[in-house]
Amino acid sequence: MSNQQVGAVALVALASWALAKLGYSLVSAPKESNLTLYVHEMRAPPDSTVLAAAGTGQNDFTKIGFGSFLVFDNEIRDGPERTSPLLGRQRGYGPISDLQGKQGIQLTSTLVFGRGSSYNGTVSFQGNVGGPEPTTELAVLGGTGDFRGAKGYAIVETVKTSPLGVVFRWTLYLSY
Ligand SMILES: *[C@@H]1O[C@H](CO)[C@@H](O)[C@H](O)[C@H]1NC(C)=O
Ligand SMILES: *[C@@H]1O[C@H](CO)[C@@H](O)[C@H](O)[C@H]1NC(C)=O
Repeated sequence: MSNQQVGAVALVALASWALAKLGYSLVSAPKESNLTLYVHEMRAPPDSTVLAAAGTGQNDFTKIGFGSFLVFDNEIRDGPERTSPLLGRQRGYGPISDLQGKQGIQLTSTLVFGRGSSYNGTVSFQGNVGGPEPTTELAVLGGTGDFRGAKGYAIVETVKTSPLGVVFRWTLYLSY
């Protein structure tokens, strides 16, 4: 091979390496989603979606406090109204773990996106919800399906409270 040919081969190799690099980085670029959804927690039987399953105040929400253990299967809806389209479920559990019983629950929870949503998968969270602060932040533990390898956080705000239940707005900041 002449020097010119060697140069051309090197150039082609360099170009395909660069393309492969570029292709690789395009394929593996993290996707980002910022989603807003509404979690509806119902407390009035027979539609309750949350249960004081063990500890203080078992079966009586007026008496929950330090040591209560709650289990929930809340609705995820597109909006704050009861009639807003259903997107999935927020399932999980958590204790009230501050001694004064005023800081809400320390939850472990999975958002399960169902048929009504454009996603197929779950995102799991850990953190504190339902205390006196107007907003709280939850950490993403991970995801499945469309959300495999998810990282990020959620900001949770209480938008409606009544004896019948509570509506929370969750804003998710995800990359996966
Ligand atoms: C999501 O929100 C973050 C923080 O506000 C912002 O930096 C990012 O660009 C947003 N991503 C999308 C896809 O909207
Ligand atoms: C949802 O994802 C799972 C795997 O993560 C797959 O088995 C299932 O077929 C998917 N369902 C739909 C409706 O795409």
